[in-house]
Formats: sequence, C-alpha cells, structure tokens
Amino acid sequence: MLTAQDTAPAMTAAQFGKLSQIVHSDTGIVLSEAKRGLLVARLSKRLRALNMADFGAYCTLLDSDRGKEERRHLLSAITTNVTAFFREGHHFDALARDVLPQLIARAKAGGRVRLWSAACSSGEEAYSMAMTVLDAFPDAAQHDVLILATDIDPEVVARAESGVYPTDTIAAIGGQRLRKYFDQQGDSFTAKPALKAIMRFGELNLHQPWPFSGTFDVIFCRNVVIYFDTDMRRSLWQRFATVLSSDGALFIGHSERVDGPAAQQFRITGATQYQLVTPTSPSH
Ligand SMILES: C[S@@+](CC[C@H](N)C(=O)[O-])C[C@H]1O[C@@H](n2cnc3c(N)ncnc32)[C@H](O)[C@@H]1O
Repeated sequence: MLTAQDTAPAMTAAQFGKLSQIVHSDTGIVLSEAKRGLLVARLSKRLRALNMADFGAYCTLLDSDRGKEERRHLLSAITTNVTAFFREGHHFDALARDVLPQLIARAKAGGRVRLWSAACSSGEEAYSMAMTVLDAFPDAAQHDVLILATDIDPEVVARAESGVYPTDTIAAIGGQRLRKYFDQQGDSFTAKPALKAIMRFGELNLHQPWPFSGTFDVIFCRNVVIYFDTDMRRSLWQRFATVLSSDGALFIGHSERVDGPAAQQFRITGATQYQLVTPTSPSH
C-alpha cells in the first residue's frame, strides 16, 4: 500500500538546505538532516494546496514577491503545536499558591498585572492560566489584569482566539471548571466571554523585537526552546530577564532549564520555575 510519504515529491539536499536555513533564521528552530523526511511530509500538503509539482517551484515562490506571505505558511507547517489544558499541572498549582496572592492584592489596590503565555500554541496553556486566575480572583476583569497569549504560528493563534475546543481536548479541565468556563455546542466547547475578557491574543515571533511597553509578572514559555539552537535559546532567557518584573515568575518546560549568561540572573523557586535574582526591570 502506498503511503503519503511514498507519493510525496523528493526534496534535494540543496532545497532542504534552503528551507531549513529560512526556518532557522525566522524561528530559531533547528532542522537537522534527520528531519528532511518530516519537512517533506509536512510541506507536501502545502504543495498540493498550491498545486505545485515539486519543491523547486516552492523555493522559487519563497524567493518571489509573494515569498514573505508564504513564509508564514512554511512556519505553520513546520512548528510542533502539541499542547494540553493544565499541562504540567504543578505550574498552575504554583501560580495559584505562590504567585497570584500578591498579584491579586496589587490589582485590588489599583495596580497593573500582566501574564504572558509566550508560545501559546492553540491556547490551552493561556486558558488554563486564565481559569487559574479567575478561580482565585473572580473579579479580575474589573481590574487591570490581562493575560497575553502569543505564538509565531498564525493558524494556532486564530484557533486560540476562537476559544473552541473538541471534546477530547477538554477532558483535562474537569467537570465543574468546564461548566463554569465553557459552553457546550454539540461536540465542541467554547470559552465563555467572562474567561476571554481577561485575555488578548496575537502573533509574535520570540526572535523578533517585542512590542511591549511594560513588564510581565508571570511568563509561561514552555516546551518551545527545546527546538531552538543554543545561541537563540540563551538570548531568549536574557530577553525574558528584561521584561519580567522584579518579583515576577518564569515557568519553562519540564525538560528545559535557564542556561548561559542569564543563569546568573535567575534563581530556581520551584520545578522549572524561576525568579530574578537582581532586579533588572522596574518594580511596580
Ligand atoms: C510544543 S508547543 C508548546 C505549547 C505550550 N507552551 C505548551 O507547553 O503546551 C510549541 C509552540 O512554540 C511555537 N513557536 C515555535 N517557534 C516560535 C518562535 N520563534 N516564536 C514564538 N513561538 C514559537 C510553535 O508555533 C508552537 O505552537
């Protein structure tokens, strides 16, 4: 029996080199030669959508005037978007227990509170943060509290913003919370307006300039730097140090750790949970 891989067009070493170089410079994601098959599999669908016979034509398109727009599709095809509600649940417990009490007190006193899901994929992480905030602070929307959810991949950001999830992905939320924060329509669940009221969504490449004016009290950047090369990963940690508030919390993935020069700036406060050692950003 023929598989999709058997019928996929071949990709030459030069074409793989060009495509992996574009992916690396745009995203920081490293595609080793071993990933050539993966790239072929993921881009074959895109070639069919464009009615193109081979990767030569696709590389020509990337070099043309329409290349910039096509790069967004290339990134969508190559990013790994695996995620889940309350993934690595201990982080949400720590958020509720160690971090939110002082942030809620500040918000009630009229202060500003910002949380960031920095590679949010289809939004499960950011909605889990929002549910954790609203469980502890039901009036959050009446105060200056916002959760920003961003990702490089426009397709997953659109899904996150829609707030619509199929039955199999919402199982981790649990019955009571599910009814409180989501409306069921047939086989899918939609985030209620009260949940979305404290959330904002946007496309953002972590390796490009960030359009922020203030600092963040909480940053979740989990399961993304594993795809980056050492320099890009280390530079990202240093940039987080400049936008995290002095008493803020950084949460990273279970197989990740802050390394390089930024390791001096952070101290571990829990499992893959960090705080700044020396304030490098203004306190509130
Ligand atoms: C495996 S998912 C992790 C989602 C979520 N943080 C979690 O832990 O469940 C990795 C996400 O990182 C995003 N990503 C990859 N490179 C990125 C970049 N340079 N800037 C922003 N997001 C990026 C991908 O699009 C993908 O949605």
